[in-house]
Amino acid sequence: MATTKAPEDAYTAAPFVPELADLAALREAAAGCRGCPLHRDATQTVFGTGDTGARVMLVGEQPGDQEDRQGRPFVGPAGKLLDRALAEAGIDPGETYVTNAVKHFKFARSGPGKRRIHKAPSLREAVACGPWLAAELRLVEPELIVVLGATAGKALLGSSFRVTEVRGTVLEEEIHGRRERLVPTVHPSSVLRADDREGAYRGLLSDLKVAARTLV
Ligand code: URA
Repeated sequence: MATTKAPEDAYTAAPFVPELADLAALREAAAGCRGCPLHRDATQTVFGTGDTGARVMLVGEQPGDQEDRQGRPFVGPAGKLLDRALAEAGIDPGETYVTNAVKHFKFARSGPGKRRIHKAPSLREAVACGPWLAAELRLVEPELIVVLGATAGKALLGSSFRVTEVRGTVLEEEIHGRRERLVPTVHPSSVLRADDREGAYRGLLSDLKVAARTLV
């Protein structure tokens, strides 16, 4: 039975995830998730987009300001950069399912206009949200998971994940009971923040080309 409030010591989305659901039913159920406190301040749950035939699943960190308002992942500046890099790497967006490790926007209000400033989700919040990602993986059964940054990596592969150590390599790991192939890379937001933006973009592109080669 779903509860409406998560006790502070038991963050988990598990009671909210319906069994035997298709993607549409999952998305609908996720809209009511109260598995951790992040739902309280966010506008809405931002569930994954794409369909069950997608060959590649892209997993980011959490929705940003624009994603929170629009209800779709990667529609803001990081998403635009990601789309450009995917196209350049030869990965057809129509072959992708795009989602996040955490489905609610976490932020703090700051400055005179009290702008909403992104705050990184804790590992506990990412683990709490894991049952949604597990359900997405079960339904989509992607050939490959592209892991975008540290939060996604830790959510999927554990807290010892270090993106700098494994980016651009093909990993094979057991995740939520399924053998998965993964290519980790940096988060596209880190490219936007980098001093050497061009170099950081080339690094992202080179990792995505590794992903593209594993699909042929
Ligand atoms: N960053 C993410 O990790 N996900 C989004 O959906 C947008 C920005």
